[in-house]
Amino acid sequence: MRRIFVLNGPNLNLLGTREPGIYGTLSLADIEERLKARAGGRAEIVFRQSNHEGELVTWIQEAGSEDAGVILNAGAYTHTSVALRDAISGAKAETIEIHLSNTHAREPFRHKSFITAVCRGVIAGFGPLSYELALEAHLAPRD
Ligand code: DQA
Repeated sequence: MRRIFVLNGPNLNLLGTREPGIYGTLSLADIEERLKARAGGRAEIVFRQSNHEGELVTWIQEAGSEDAGVILNAGAYTHTSVALRDAISGAKAETIEIHLSNTHAREPFRHKSFITAVCRGVIAGFGPLSYELALEAHLAPRD
């Protein structure tokens, strides 16, 4: 069965209480539960969160080494991290970048992503559904 690493960056552990007007009221555990239910028997979901950039780098390398797919919400590191970009391209981890919020409708500093260019695609602005859409994209047959 395909393994999909769902990696969450800084402050996403606060979901549920963090700026609910922007990020909604579901906790990260709620999102994990929904995603696992959607995956059903189609994929094994490895769901993790870290506030530390290097830990995310290590997990991307781990996913790449076992040819697993990655769904990455890098949080604020999206807009700053050369290390995450290099991990994705170096580890050849097939990665879909996601965001709960539509980053392009927010502050200008959120319009720039360091990782988009090395990701297969980007899904942003659909709240928790962004995770599920990325899962479907990973599992869809390639035409
Ligand atoms: C985010 C958007 C980022 O700009 C922000 O720093 C986050 C969350 C999102 O999911 O909308 O932490 O990645």
